[in-house]
Amino acid sequence: MRAVDLIIKKRDGKALQDGEIDFLIQGFVRGEIPDYQIASILMAIFFRGMNLEETVSLTKSMVESGKQLDLSSLPGPTVDKHSTGGVGDKVSLALVPLLSACGLFIAKMSGRGLGHTGGTIDKLESIPGFKTDLSLEELLAQVKEVGCAIVSQTPELVPADGKLYALRDVTGTVESIPLIASSVMSKKIAGGASNILIDVKCGRGAFMKTLKEARDLSRIMVEIGTRMKRKVTCLITPMDEPLGKMVGNALEVKEAVETLKGTGPSDFTNSVLELAGELLFLSGKGNTPEEGKEIAREVLNSGGGLFKFKQMLKAQGGDERITDEAWRLPGASFRWVIPSKAKGFVKKIDAFKIGKAAMILGGGREKKGDPIDYGVGVELLKKSGDFVTLEEPLAVLHVNNRERIKEAQDLVEGAFSFSKEPVEKLFKPLARISNA
Ligand code: URA
Repeated sequence: MRAVDLIIKKRDGKALQDGEIDFLIQGFVRGEIPDYQIASILMAIFFRGMNLEETVSLTKSMVESGKQLDLSSLPGPTVDKHSTGGVGDKVSLALVPLLSACGLFIAKMSGRGLGHTGGTIDKLESIPGFKTDLSLEELLAQVKEVGCAIVSQTPELVPADGKLYALRDVTGTVESIPLIASSVMSKKIAGGASNILIDVKCGRGAFMKTLKEARDLSRIMVEIGTRMKRKVTCLITPMDEPLGKMVGNALEVKEAVETLKGTGPSDFTNSVLELAGELLFLSGKGNTPEEGKEIAREVLNSGGGLFKFKQMLKAQGGDERITDEAWRLPGASFRWVIPSKAKGFVKKIDAFKIGKAAMILGGGREKKGDPIDYGVGVELLKKSGDFVTLEEPLAVLHVNNRERIKEAQDLVEGAFSFSKEPVEKLFKPLARISNA
């Protein structure tokens, strides 16, 4: 078999067979097939697509490129969650300990932020002492003892994804449904959990800009789950505006802690409870997702999620005192208030622009490996539906480098649009696609 023949086959719109896909993936991971040939096949897939059989084969081959986590020794239902990425998406920080407090076991692997989107690992690393690079043995031991852990993606699991993603990132081939579906699902399958929730973000701040694209991606991921004997639900949730009020690493940790204390913003709290309800249902702890949501709400109100969060911090070397003394988190040297130039109801807040503003302040990376400033970010004082008068503060920039203010302010101002009529607010999923 030769890689060039497979590139030509896909270029001409033909479907690749299981063995052909496996030849490309394992050859790439072993270093036998060079980047330029894989880059070509990725571009051919981007334009020609893949049918369901090919996408399932690609996912299997990616899973088999490395180790798989065996969670069978855990004494309860195992769950996992993945978000396709957004702005202010700190859901895992609150959801993982909350689920654990509900009796579920969760060994969560998360990523770092890139471009306008943040990453859970960067957020957690803003907590003094918090260790994210656990070995697979340490991860399993912690989940057995505490019930949950959040660690960085290890190259031992699905090495194909790390290598493929790095190439996709620099060849304009990220936004491809079969490539996203196989990337997400291979990591979840290798992660070993029986019940999987994928939060498919849809809108201005997400990879999937339209509901149709988000549905297509979701159907494929659910089908991959069915073929690989996992319960999978995809919840398509809006990412037109940032989730919650804080965008920035330490700021988001602070907001997640407030949410676990019951004083977080309503859209974010609702979002966490919605996803928790779905995973409790998948795991058989509720007869419906709504019943699951009520269980999660009770546990949240009892302080169970906060207690688990502290246990997780302690187990991973993080300073637990940040939950009561937020000043122990990295901060910014000053705050820059942005007043409103308009009067009316906030209609929309463009998540992409807010994410970019946080990145410009130093809170995100333009390219992989760039250093980040954990203390900076954007705090939204108004969200869609809120009424605002002229000159009333709209947002606060948390700043360490004053030279960045102008660019960030322009982005934040440009992100807001207003309406004379009242605007409905409240988080609710746009669609649910599930095999359960
Ligand atoms: N998230 C992933 O894990 N992979 C993708 O390809 C896109 C989003």
